[in-house]
Amino acid sequence: MQLDGSKGAAGAASACVIGDPIAHSRSPIIHNYWLANLGLPGEYTRRRVLSAELDDFLNDVRSGALRGGNVTVPHKEAIARKVDRLTDTARRLGAVNTVWAEDGLVWGDNTDGTGFLANLDDRSPGWDAVSDMAVVLGAGGAARAIVFALLQRGFLDVVITNRSESRAGQLATELEDEGKSRLRVVDWDKRSEILAGAAFVVNTTSLGMTGQPPLPIELECLPAHAVVHDIVYAPLETTLLKAARDRGLKAVDGLGMLLHQAVPGFARWFGQKPQVTQELRQLIVDDMNRSKT
Ligand code: ATR
Repeated sequence: MQLDGSKGAAGAASACVIGDPIAHSRSPIIHNYWLANLGLPGEYTRRRVLSAELDDFLNDVRSGALRGGNVTVPHKEAIARKVDRLTDTARRLGAVNTVWAEDGLVWGDNTDGTGFLANLDDRSPGWDAVSDMAVVLGAGGAARAIVFALLQRGFLDVVITNRSESRAGQLATELEDEGKSRLRVVDWDKRSEILAGAAFVVNTTSLGMTGQPPLPIELECLPAHAVVHDIVYAPLETTLLKAARDRGLKAVDGLGMLLHQAVPGFARWFGQKPQVTQELRQLIVDDMNRSKT
């Protein structure tokens, strides 16, 4: 296990993010900002952890050597199979991004959906006022958490469209709640026309990210009240969001999802619910500008 940026203070309240690779993670900036801001002792580091080292990490959490941590690529599913207890959300998603210990047992939760909803509630209050039809572009891990969150929020018709249709179908089958049939899969080639009637559309694919081609989609069919969201946050304004703003539609970037998904973990490890502030947002934007990612 490789410790990066950690003083490894024995006994101090500490948490970390694990993954492989991990050097790109901005979670330490977020949690150390909150620790400093709230005047709390403790530290949050990043650790490169290989698959064979996941049990060591969980033992550190179980023993209290670590208060807990965040889990990122490629370990979210493996950790979900290894923790002692899963929240209902993590069980449904089969993936964990936040762990902590209670009474000697390691718990795993998935806060991506909470972060997604909290970001939209924050940046676009009332975004879910018309909760009939939502369109989700993509069917990867992020889409899974988002589809589940949209169902929980009460959307009546959630359309999933993905380049690989079979992956969209699998997601719909796995998340469909008994007999309610609120999930639909639509051919990727129909992604522009399906937007007619959608109150909300979100890009969960990697298209539009720095270094990737833009998402090819036409927004002409979208109603004027629709909210367009891109979970990509580098760049902050993707081609999709610019096209939405040019059409006068409300557009929400993905940076807040990264910030808000961190809130529940911090509250569990350090005992206070932190705030997502403009200052924190700016810290991440400045870091992105420095590293050009
Ligand atoms: P994550 O866990 O972050 O969601 P992922 O599981 O790798 O990441 O999913 C990436 C998403 O981007 C998928 O929906 C993927 O489509 P496929 O399932 O067909 O692979 C989508 N994606 C990536 N590159 C794409 C491209 N060039 N065109 C269309 N969709 C693309």
